[in-house]
Amino acid sequence: MKVKGHARRTIWPESDGVSVGVIDQTRLPHDFATLRLGTLAEAAHAIRSMQVRGAPLIGATAAYGLWLGLRADPTDAGLQQARTTLLTTRPTAVNLRWALDRAFAHLQPLPPAARAAAAAAFAAALCDEDVAINRGIGEAGLPLLRALAAKKPAGRPLNILTHCNAGWLATVDWGTATAPIYLAHDAGLPVHVWVDETRPRNQGASLTAWELLNHGVPHTVIVDNAGGHLMQHGEVDVVLVGTDRTTAHGDVCNKIGTYLKALAAHDNGVPFYAAVPAPSIDWTICDGVREIPIEERAAAEITRLTGRADDGRMTTITLTPEGSAAANPGFDVTPARLVTGLITERGVTPATAGGLRRLFPEKAPAP
Ligand code: MRU
Repeated sequence: MKVKGHARRTIWPESDGVSVGVIDQTRLPHDFATLRLGTLAEAAHAIRSMQVRGAPLIGATAAYGLWLGLRADPTDAGLQQARTTLLTTRPTAVNLRWALDRAFAHLQPLPPAARAAAAAAFAAALCDEDVAINRGIGEAGLPLLRALAAKKPAGRPLNILTHCNAGWLATVDWGTATAPIYLAHDAGLPVHVWVDETRPRNQGASLTAWELLNHGVPHTVIVDNAGGHLMQHGEVDVVLVGTDRTTAHGDVCNKIGTYLKALAAHDNGVPFYAAVPAPSIDWTICDGVREIPIEERAAAEITRLTGRADDGRMTTITLTPEGSAAANPGFDVTPARLVTGLITERGVTPATAGGLRRLFPEKAPAP
């Protein structure tokens, strides 16, 4: 996608040959700043601190993190340690394990001296693959948006509600949930996006809104609790979200609050779709509520808030009484029964084990 007219990805090998560049997402929307990651520790920190975030981008950063680790120590022990360090950065998005397992299987048989170069090439290929997957999701989702738009009275935009940021910032490019939206907008389909602010880290208000604004897509930021009300009043035509891990039976784990949107959509007959790239499918599990590890993040993300003050400086304020406890589960699981469909790079399927297996027949049958 473009930033100020320049085509950008969210992650790239720097021309110095020894580091990888990323956009520091903790500084958006007020400041567009990039970072150079030069070590395994810096890559792990970028994921943990959410300088980079979003399931596909976490996987891509981990792949480059392995390269950085292997540059310092290409031995078996170094490879193993880099893998473990990266694997423990964030627990929920399965793309992290997917990227590391694939990279490990590719690199481990190689002689140590060949590993770093092979890791760099592997990470670059993984990034290209992510871009192709997301473009595929866009192409699979576009007819669906067209069909929904065709039911609208002439001149009325298609109202899409999204939660968190499953946009290009969460991937290498295009985004997952946003890919069909960008294609629809570029094709002249009138779309309008309700952007959930997504407390506590406000990925919707800070990142999705910034992306959509950059691309000229009409949108409105709402508080997380407004979605149900808008659905009751016919203001939402479709809910479209991303996923951090989707089970082999179609349960969708995504940013905390997604489940409530699915409940409200179900109650109001609003279709609820998740954009699901294949690397976000965990074929080893069926029951998302019981089996997906949910990240618990720092209480300070709830009790404190950082933003730009009127004088232009960044400032942090405290919201809650000193002494009140705060709990911060980062994700929730929407059971497959509440999901109208999954938009994958291979097409749209009902959120069922059979539907997923039909699209991905090469995957082991669900247990
Ligand atoms: O905690 P985050 O910001 O990494 O959470 C991101 C999400 O929940 C996204 O919706 C998900 O990763 C899909 S990104 C294409």
